[in-house]
Amino acid sequence: MLILGIETSCDETAAAVVHSGRMVKSNIIASQAAEHSSFGGVVPELASRRHVENIVEVTKAAIKDSGYTQDDIEAVAVTYAPGLIGALLVGVNFAKAYAYAIKKPLIPVHHLRAHIAALYLEYPELQPPFICLVASGGHSHIINVLGYTNFEILGRTVDDAAGEAFDKIARILDLGYPGGPAVAKAALFGDPNRYTLPTPKAPGEFDVSFSGLKTAVINLKNTLEMRGEKVCVNSLAAAFENKTADILSVKLKNAARKINAKIVCLVGGVAANEILKNRIKSDCDHNGQRFCVPTKDLCGDNGAMVASAGYYEYLSGNIAALDLNGKPTKEII
Ligand code: KG4
Ligand code: ZN
Repeated sequence: MLILGIETSCDETAAAVVHSGRMVKSNIIASQAAEHSSFGGVVPELASRRHVENIVEVTKAAIKDSGYTQDDIEAVAVTYAPGLIGALLVGVNFAKAYAYAIKKPLIPVHHLRAHIAALYLEYPELQPPFICLVASGGHSHIINVLGYTNFEILGRTVDDAAGEAFDKIARILDLGYPGGPAVAKAALFGDPNRYTLPTPKAPGEFDVSFSGLKTAVINLKNTLEMRGEKVCVNSLAAAFENKTADILSVKLKNAARKINAKIVCLVGGVAANEILKNRIKSDCDHNGQRFCVPTKDLCGDNGAMVASAGYYEYLSGNIAALDLNGKPTKEII
């Protein structure tokens, strides 16, 4: 089954064609990151306007690149929640019109379900159950993936998401946007042991917290500056990156042990982080678990993961009517 996937939940306008949820035929992403970087973060209204301008050309390119034609598309899958509402509405309305015009089903896709589905593109034989850490700009969830459309939330952030924390630290350290890659790059030249950062407490057994970590970085920087000492930005970035990887990997390891998971997965934009990946992989090696993570191109927002998730939603009978609306917040379950 050939599905067109549309993604506009944040600052990537993306479209892709995927066969039977597993084979990527095309995957076009128009990133707005460079434009938003001059504002230090995503400007929601600007993102919506750019989606309006880009969505038609991005979709045309995805169809052309796939080697198929519009007549071959059998369903249209679209991210409808969660995300920036103005941005989501562009994709939702475009997908509605497209599905209506080609007389094919419209499939609503939850953004976190799509991030998880990126695994099915990377590992064509992978099947649930598995445990998955979804770490992105908006979420840090530890999820028990019981089936393709059956999820249990084991833990989550109680304040900032992991990617959000990277973005905020990058701003504090003047490293630019998006923060994740900028902090990781700076950290390469730093000493992670030069500064000591705390591990913030979170209420639930598998919950995480990052806002206290952000405050600790701000306080440390201010204290050093007040004392007239030079702040080693690279080492502070390395300490933050290491602590974040520590917080996430320990909770994931504990949750995986509790549910006796055989497969441990990492997805979302933050899954591109090498320190985090290595930390989780070494825990998995130590515990005899399989570790799965998509390649970098499939970690960030893209249309292929939406098309893949859409395939499994379709199989479960989840078809949207043409009054489908975008939702800024919605749980994965
Ligand atoms: O999944 P994603 O592309 O969009 C959302 O759904 O939010 O994730 C974007 C987030 C941003 O916060 C970005 O800073 C972070 O992923 N990110 C990283 C890295 N690359 C992107 N965080 C840490 N290390 C990276 N290498
Ligand atoms: Zn995302």
